Amino acid sequence: MAKFLVQKSGPLNGEVVISGAKNAVLPLMAATILSDEECRISDVPQLRDVDVMKDILKSLGGEIKAENDGVLAVNMKKIEKCEADYDLVSRMRASFLIMGSLLGRCGRAKVYMPGGCTIGARPIDLHLKGFEALGAEIIVKDNFIEAISPEGGLKGESIYLDFPSVGATENIMAAAVLANGTTYIENAAEEPEIVDLANFLNKMGARIKGAGTDTIKIEGVERVHGASHTVIPDRIEAGTYMLAGAITRGTLLLKNMVPDHVKPITAKLRESGVTVELTDEGLYVDASGDRKLTAVDLKTLPYPGFPTDIQSPFMSFLTTVEGSSTVIETVFENRLMHVAELNRMGANIMTEGNKAVVQGCKNLEGAQVIATDLRAGAALVLAGLVASGTTEISEIYHIERGYEKFTEKFRAIGANIMRVEE
Ligand code: UD1
Repeated sequence: MAKFLVQKSGPLNGEVVISGAKNAVLPLMAATILSDEECRISDVPQLRDVDVMKDILKSLGGEIKAENDGVLAVNMKKIEKCEADYDLVSRMRASFLIMGSLLGRCGRAKVYMPGGCTIGARPIDLHLKGFEALGAEIIVKDNFIEAISPEGGLKGESIYLDFPSVGATENIMAAAVLANGTTYIENAAEEPEIVDLANFLNKMGARIKGAGTDTIKIEGVERVHGASHTVIPDRIEAGTYMLAGAITRGTLLLKNMVPDHVKPITAKLRESGVTVELTDEGLYVDASGDRKLTAVDLKTLPYPGFPTDIQSPFMSFLTTVEGSSTVIETVFENRLMHVAELNRMGANIMTEGNKAVVQGCKNLEGAQVIATDLRAGAALVLAGLVASGTTEISEIYHIERGYEKFTEKFRAIGANIMRVEE
């Protein structure tokens, strides 16, 4: 099993080029199933989750070519089966995103129960309710879920989501592209990744309006064609590096990112005393010098609220500032697992339900800790950069699922991080 060894590193300085977004590329890849023509996706990050999605598409009969410079050519001309195997789906929860496109294209989809990060129960009831509203019959049996279109195909319908689930919005939107009539998704997720998916689908010939607002209208079309698209930059990776600059009291310039996508992170860092400025070259984050950084309270919410994926890295930062901060997690019910690990490093964080109170200004100490999920793992690396001694982080496969060239990028800005095989 591989581990990261992280040592106190001093202020991180330099430039970071942000990669294409993991959470955007996975639904884009799944959406290629809708067409029998080749699609080309650019700025595809090299990640384990992307590899799993490639394997899933290949297992369905697709042809995938990874070209130079992060271009992925996907051809789903032949769909040999509309079923995704357990061993692939269990490796990544987002595998479930193929369900909507498969159902739309083939009229039938069978997917084993999804796996992925252990950050709460993460049900899929909203996805299934959406497919049912479009007329599909849903069979949940043993370990699999099967959806079957009615005779004549799916039918457009108005669907109200009880919660603006990102995955459910993406899956229902994809399923509705080839449905008969018009679908409305109300209380839809508004994340930039939804907008990216809608833009890609529209390039393929879909007729989608309103992505990025709480109501998405999808007018069904008979067929879609191939398209080329560049993935949006990863706002969560950008947020992680913003916090790397902040926690180490460094100065970083982030390139290839959309400043609007990280507004809530910018706002909270500024409130704490960090300089965040948009320049011609990119987003500049400066926490250097003798400035006093102070506690801030935050609450995670669906976009455009504070992203749940940045809650844990932000909490690492809060352990290093003066005063007491309250962090409330409202999106996932079990996303405070990093608290126990940070406390093992000397942090003073108390939790009650979904609330954590962080008493800042502690000197963190290196310890043996576990990356309990993807973002929690990144949070522990950030803590390790300012902790005395060595922090040994295990289960780093979580981190490698979602951050491209993680050690390479961190080392380039001065982080003392090493990947070792045990
Ligand atoms: C996506 C992101 C993940 C991010 C999350 C919230 C991808 C691949 N992953 O995950 O990084 O943390 O959005 O921004 O894009 N829920 C239900 N029923 C459902 C679906 C979801 O109750 O059918 C609940 C979940 O348990 C969770 C909440 O809704 O509490 C949010 O989940 P959702 O927005 O669906 O997240 P994902 O799409 O899984």
